[in-house]
Order: sequence, then C-alpha cells, then structure tokens
Amino acid sequence: MSRSPAQRTPLVLVSNRGPVTFQPNGEVQRGSGGLVTALTGLASHREALWIASAMTDHDVEASRRNHGRAFPVRSPAGGEYQVRLVASNPEAYDRFYNVFANPMLWFIQHYLWDLSNAPDIRREEIEAFEFGYNVVNEDLARAVVEELEGQAEPVVMVHDYHLYTLPDLVRRARPDVFLHHFVHIPWTQSDSWRVLPSHIRQEIFTGLLANDIVGFHTRSYRRNFLQCCQDLMDLEVDFERGIVRFGGREIWVRAYPLPIDHKATGRLAQGPRVADYEKELLRRRRDFLILRVDRADLSKNVLRGFSAFDLFLDQHPEFSERVTFVAQMMPSRTDVPQYAEYLERIEALVAVVNHRHGTPDWMPIQLKLRDDLEEAMAAYKHYDVLLVNAMFDGMNLVAKEGPIVNEREGVSILSENTGAHEELGQYALSVNPFDIQELADSIYAALTMEVSERRRRAQGLVEIVTSRDPGDWIDEQLADIRAKGLGQSRDS
Ligand code: G6P
Repeated sequence: MSRSPAQRTPLVLVSNRGPVTFQPNGEVQRGSGGLVTALTGLASHREALWIASAMTDHDVEASRRNHGRAFPVRSPAGGEYQVRLVASNPEAYDRFYNVFANPMLWFIQHYLWDLSNAPDIRREEIEAFEFGYNVVNEDLARAVVEELEGQAEPVVMVHDYHLYTLPDLVRRARPDVFLHHFVHIPWTQSDSWRVLPSHIRQEIFTGLLANDIVGFHTRSYRRNFLQCCQDLMDLEVDFERGIVRFGGREIWVRAYPLPIDHKATGRLAQGPRVADYEKELLRRRRDFLILRVDRADLSKNVLRGFSAFDLFLDQHPEFSERVTFVAQMMPSRTDVPQYAEYLERIEALVAVVNHRHGTPDWMPIQLKLRDDLEEAMAAYKHYDVLLVNAMFDGMNLVAKEGPIVNEREGVSILSENTGAHEELGQYALSVNPFDIQELADSIYAALTMEVSERRRRAQGLVEIVTSRDPGDWIDEQLADIRAKGLGQSRDS
C-alpha cells in the first residue's frame, strides 16, 4: 500500500526569506515579516528542511562555510531548524528582489501602482524578470531537486510571491513531487495583473499552476485567483469546489487563514528585556497611548494614519498633551527607491504633526525606526488603541498579536482590507483605510469608549485569536495534501 504524501517526511519548505539572517559579528537575527512567523511553527514542530535565499553577504558566508548544504541553526526567537541557504549571483538577486518581486509583484498584489504614472515597463523590468526573478527561482529549484534525491514521492511546500516560477521547474525534474504553494499576500483582481506583459503573466501562471494546491489567507483572494485563471488564462474553473484544470491536471485552490502562536507570543511578552522597555514606556506615558507596529511598507498606509491623528488633534484639542502615538516601524526593502522615498515622507510628516501640535514637553508622535520585537511587545501591553489601517494586507499578524498581549482592554482599529478583518472585524472598529475623517472619528470613539464595551471587544478578539494555532493551520494543509495525494494515487 502506498503511503499518502503527507506522511513522507521530511517536508521541504522553500521561501525567499529564511528563519534567520547572519550579522557581521556572526550573530543570528530572526527574519522579519509574516512569512517567517508563519513558518517558524511548521519548521520547528516537524522534521523539515527549510531552503531559502542567502539574502546578505553574511548569509552567503554562512552558506559557504556549510559548503552550500543544509545545516542546523537556532533562532533567537526560539526553535532549531535545518536550513539550506542558496546564494545567487548578486546582480541577478538584486534584479529579482529590488526590481521584480518588490516593487513589481508586491505593488500589483496590493493595488499600489498609481497607473497614470507608473509602472513603465521597459527593458529593465523585462530583464529583471528573465535574468533576475527566473534565475533566483532556478537556483532555489535546483537546491530543492537536489534535496529530493532518493526520496520517494516527496512533498514540497513553496511560499509566497518570490517563487511563482519555481514549481514548474521542480515538477519538470520530479514529476512525482507533491507541490503545495501558499501565497502570504493578497491575490488581486484580474485587471491589476494586466500591468504585466502577457508572456510574463503566462509564465507566472504556468509556474503557479504546476502546483497541486495553491493556498491563500482568505476566501476573497481564492476567488480572485480563480477568476484570474478564467480571465487571463482562459481556463476551466470550478468556483464552488475551488478547482482549476490545467495541462491535464486538477489544481485545488484553498483558503487557510493563518493563526498566530498565541502561547509563544504570550511567553515572549513576559521576558526581561520586555520588562525593561515597559519601565521606560510607563515613565513617559500620558493618559492614552495609540500604537502602530509595521514594516515601513507603502501598503501599511502609515501616512494616512498620521494625517488622521493630526485631524483628530485639530478636532479634539482637549486631548492635547494627554495622548501619545507610538509608531514602531521596521525599515524594509530600503534599496527599492519607492520604499526609501516612503520612509522620507513618513519622517517629514511626523515632523510636521509634531511641530503643529507639540508643546515644550509633549511630542505627539514618537517614531521608532527599528526592528525590535521585544520593544514592540512592551508597547503591545500598554496601548489603549491599536491602529492597523493597511490599504491592503494579506493577513496582518499585528492585529492578532496586540490583543493577546495587551493589558488595558485596548481597542483595535482595523482596516476592512486586511485578511485579518474576515476573522476579527466584528470586535474591532472597522475602517475604510482611505477615509481619513472616519479614522480620526474612530480614534476619538476608541479613546472615549465605555470600559464595558472595551472589555467586550477585547475579550472577543482574544477568544478568536486563541481559538486556533499554527498547528491547526498546518494540519488543515496536510489534510488537503493527504486527500488530494490519495486521489492522485488512485487515478494513476
Ligand atoms: C511579507 C511577505 C514575506 C516577506 C515579509 C518581509 O510578510 O509576505 O514574504 O518575507 O513581508 O519582507 P522582506 O522583503 O523583508 O522579506
């Protein structure tokens, strides 16, 4: 009797960013962003090998020290992993990461292009796809195929928008492989993909449809993907069952909303470094604290968040000197011009708002530009309002982490365009992220809300966030892998 694919361990995971990056002094730092948070559980709870790009010179060195093969590594955030870091040609990697994946794909998948102005598709962009994106996908695919050698009917879990062309390469080398691809960011409607030249679009969809299962955070991204297959690839699609047919195969399209590891988050919040940050925070604390924690990414809508706070202070001068807005922002993708410029605009707007409303001993907005999870945890504990106003966001894990750690029955203001809103919307103050007046009104509503109402909402959020954990997320995917794998072995 043949075993189902999900039982054929070890599992191979492949993503651009790995669980750790190496620092100049040899120290390891946890990789940032939602993808690492999601996969950390998967890789440390099961026998798994995580293949990722060597993203910095020090990652490349670490990879060389290990002769390009897999090695064990311990993350500062806990957990030990088997990692294989793949170094690509630096120029190819730059084209892959800084020109094609970010911004091109990221902007398409968050509706960020201002189409009357950008993007211009020129030779640079076309070549970034051919000689950048595809090269890095080939490098990682080669490593995957090498690691599968000797494994019967292996399972590979591919992650995110960096690796759309990899599945087809792996499938060609190993027709027996089971490929599951999870996309951590939104899948946008068909027309937003028309920005790409049709041959690139074709290659992206052909790559993705080499998978057996494609997963998303929400039902709406799943629907958009199926619609794209119909509109852009002229394929036969079953919306009800979430199936698309391509090249004589069936591909399942599924939604698996990502939970957080609430127990681990709770433990991290109890650490000694968090306590030090808390002391400092409480020393400077005013009556009210508004908090946002994000990568400094255009999709997070940071500028409108500050404009709304500015408007709120104009319209409610009684809050002057009584409220501080702490914005913890991790600089991100700073070699991409649009990101560098965004960071400058953030700093400039903070200066304007602080100048307009500040007093000699009160700075309304405190901008902390650094990646420090423990500092963020300290702030999570003490906010009165958590602001998550992303324009579009695949899931947004801050919306889940904050309420778990918070000790003040803080109110969440949550954009209706985040994946998290499908689950948490009923207990948050929902906002249209483009409506600055609504956001300002929500800040006021949150700060003046009755305690009983705050408590009802905070408890509701905690209940939902603690009802599932990453183990459930993984089990749902493995169950589908098993179900589909069994079907396939029956067919053959
Ligand atoms: C999002 C993406 C991830 C990415 C993370 C951090 O969560 O879905 O794929 O790793 O952002 O971005 P970076 O470019 O720093 O890896």
